[in-house]
Amino acid sequence: MEFDTLLRRRRMHRSFTDEPVKIEQVLALCEAAIRAPSAGFTQGTELIVVTDLGRIRNIFELITTEDWLRNSPTHGGLLQAQALIFPIVNKPAYLARYAEPDKADTGMAFEDAWPQPYWTVDASFATMQLLLKVVDIGLGATFMGIYHGVERLRDLLALPHGLEPLGIVCVGHSASKKTTGSPRRRQRREAVTLIHHEHW
Ligand SMILES: Cc1cc2nc3c(=O)[nH]c(=O)nc-3n(C[C@H](O)[C@H](O)[C@H](O)COP(=O)(O)O)c2cc1C
Repeated sequence: MEFDTLLRRRRMHRSFTDEPVKIEQVLALCEAAIRAPSAGFTQGTELIVVTDLGRIRNIFELITTEDWLRNSPTHGGLLQAQALIFPIVNKPAYLARYAEPDKADTGMAFEDAWPQPYWTVDASFATMQLLLKVVDIGLGATFMGIYHGVERLRDLLALPHGLEPLGIVCVGHSASKKTTGSPRRRQRREAVTLIHHEHW
């Protein structure tokens, strides 16, 4: 697919059919994610992939509320996702990497010295590559924050202390071409309002 077309086609899909997603497709998404750049080549972003449908259902039960499901009818089809991918933010890996001899002069072995949380930056880059690969292989996905049940989710995923899920990528075959979510209510901003030349 032509790159500009791919960029334009990328959008969040919040409703899926029950058609299974092949494990090779899930792995292709993960491969795309782990090719992302990383600060100091730390490669700190790891992924947890869940394809067991019972486990997927358990996870949705943990991270959603009945209220949310009731009041978000467009999100109903989300529960049909055939794979969940959690990009995992690994801050300790970055602090350790920047304490290595070739990075010692940056002074970034301590969190306060970081200009930005590169562990989150890297997990975000990886997630974006994954989302683009979703379009490339003809699937649909949405990225969502995790607002509820994160501690129980951590237990279910056996996530070690210090590691955090960036969010959740729900993957499946899209059930609808309809625009969902915030773009129904907000216009895309014009480039001229977003791009500044030479100064703000
Ligand atoms: C950090 C982040 C958090 C998001 N959280 C949610 C979420 O919790 N639920 C949801 O439906 N969409 C979520 N989205 C998707 C955005 O709503 C969506 O990207 C935005 O409205 C633009 O739409 P598009 O991606 O379809 O172009 C999130 C996106 C980002 C980048």
